[in-house]
Amino acid sequence: MRRITLNELDIFHGPLILVNKEHQIQNKNNLNLVPYSLEHKEIQLDAKTASMLSKLLESINCDNEIIPVSGYRSKEEQEEIFDNSLLENGIDFTHKYVAFPDHSEHQTGLAIDLGENGDSIDFIRPKFSYTGICGEFRAKAPQYGFIERYSKGKETMTGIAHEPWHFRYVGYPHSYLIEYNGLSLEEYIQFIKKYPYQGEHLTIKNKGTEVKVFFVESIADKTVIELSNNDLYQISGNNVDGFIVTVWRQYS
Ligand code: DAL
Ligand code: ZN
Repeated sequence: MRRITLNELDIFHGPLILVNKEHQIQNKNNLNLVPYSLEHKEIQLDAKTASMLSKLLESINCDNEIIPVSGYRSKEEQEEIFDNSLLENGIDFTHKYVAFPDHSEHQTGLAIDLGENGDSIDFIRPKFSYTGICGEFRAKAPQYGFIERYSKGKETMTGIAHEPWHFRYVGYPHSYLIEYNGLSLEEYIQFIKKYPYQGEHLTIKNKGTEVKVFFVESIADKTVIELSNNDLYQISGNNVDGFIVTVWRQYS
């Protein structure tokens, strides 16, 4: 058995952190950011998010038809975007499309705004349709760990208007579970609590691999999780109250 000990601050790390109006980003200094590509060095992303995005674009043979518009933003950058938008677009628009500083997923490095390549690309609301190459991107996004974060019909939960251009890396199988069940990230964080550590785990079996997902509530000073020695696992905080554990096993 392998014992994994986590502390309270660990809930603020990982690809499944929920950052929204109610839950602000807590981990601001421990990010693993890389330039997205040689061509787009100005865009930084979390390293895993950057590599999965490149793979996804490669898988649809995308050759410059999709442009990264905005990736990681510091708090200061988010503040500037927010303040400029207030002046240029007014309060209603800004509250719909720009998150408050420290409440933006862009500060995590896990979010990317994408735009269709064209003459002019709107920085706050780039065009990213549901057909053509963008449709192909959407169809494959969950396989590579991405979700459309602010979907139509989920506005009251996310607190943000429909944003067809904003994608969030959460990792597979979570991206698949979110899409398949038609959930927002807010709903998924609740949904996964139906599968607690000491109960039945959510199980997906596919081509010789079994994936189990479960929720572990954070205990004040120390949370202990026991996994078997051969398990391949990932633990992500949810930025609220606990951890989502994903375990991969081979079966024959
Ligand atoms: N446009 C998204 C909500 C942000 O500003 O983070
Ligand atoms: Zn965005």
